[in-house]
Amino acid sequence: MRPIKIRVENVSKVFGRDPATALAKIRAGLDKTRLKEETDHVLGLHDISLDIRAGETFVIMGLSGSGKSTLIRHFNRLIEPTAGRILFDGDDILAHDAARLQALRRRKVAMVFQRFALLPHKTVAENVAYGLTLDGVPKAEALRRAADQIALVGLGGFETSYPAQLSGGMQQRVGLARALATDAEVLLMDEAFSALDPLIRHDMQVQLKELQGRLGKTIVFITHDLDEALMLGDHIAILKDGMLRQVGTGAEILARPADDYVARFVRDVNRGRILLCGAFADAGVMADVEAPVIGAEATLETAFAAFAGGAQVVAVRNGDGRMAGSLTAQRVMQALARV
Ligand SMILES: Nc1ncnc2c1ncn2[C@@H]1O[C@H](COP(=O)(O)OP(=O)(O)OP(=O)(O)O)[C@@H](O)[C@H]1O
Ligand SMILES: [Mg+2]
Repeated sequence: MRPIKIRVENVSKVFGRDPATALAKIRAGLDKTRLKEETDHVLGLHDISLDIRAGETFVIMGLSGSGKSTLIRHFNRLIEPTAGRILFDGDDILAHDAARLQALRRRKVAMVFQRFALLPHKTVAENVAYGLTLDGVPKAEALRRAADQIALVGLGGFETSYPAQLSGGMQQRVGLARALATDAEVLLMDEAFSALDPLIRHDMQVQLKELQGRLGKTIVFITHDLDEALMLGDHIAILKDGMLRQVGTGAEILARPADDYVARFVRDVNRGRILLCGAFADAGVMADVEAPVIGAEATLETAFAAFAGGAQVVAVRNGDGRMAGSLTAQRVMQALARV
């Protein structure tokens, strides 16, 4: 398995004048609403533990106010926890001195915001190179590296344009190029695509996936959009009122929601596109040799074609070539109907 890049250990965050006392009340059973009413403190996060692995896209989901931004801002210590630890490559970042913290923020982590604040009087290339020049990279070298990133996000030819001459989607891509240009190992993307219209948003999702495959960055991605989460996320965490309700792959969460809240959250998803054949194959029954064969990692939707062709049973084969079992049309229907 890939090494752990960011480990979040029992992190709690309370906003207010006396967070420690307020947290003790939460631990004694007070809920977020009553904490606010009785003490005027706000519970941001409560006892969150999770691991983000190197090279994965880890999506954080939840309704407005559930603690997504609060969580992601702990990863470069823009916010410090009231309790708990954050480990980055195994090191406790709360123990970093000023120099190490600056190195973390400049070299290891880059942030992309919903509306990336581009510098209006600088060109696209200067905007992208900005972080590098701040970091002491000579200007010519910074511009050369910026040009590579600009090409990567599909904005070649716009190097000398100013932000105001670009559409919102293009500006967003400049923001992404700027984050990529820093060579940071981790990209923190807080609703980075939420302001884009659906077609551009889809293009950006495809592009991000493709870039990640190529560059192997670790990406932490916040979104409200379940389809976006399922498309991008190797793992998805669902927060509610500062608490972690479930972490898993999209397929795991859909197949086995941890509670009613998560089940309602994922209710309207097209399950055929997410659930995998392997999870529903009956290992006790092998299909006939003539049965169509489908991969365990194929989505249920992929099996539709075989059933439409008249098959009643398909054989499911694992990645290593061994047969996993059989899958009937009825079983697929049951999975889609949540039976
Ligand atoms: N600086 C702060 N001071 C006081 N309360 C805060 C502060 N920052 C966040 N909060 C509170 O913490 C909770 C979580 O906020 P957060 O911004 O993390 O939510 P979010 O999930 O990112 O929401 P959204 O989807 O609207 O961006 C909210 O109740 C919010 O009011
Ligand atoms: Mg937020």
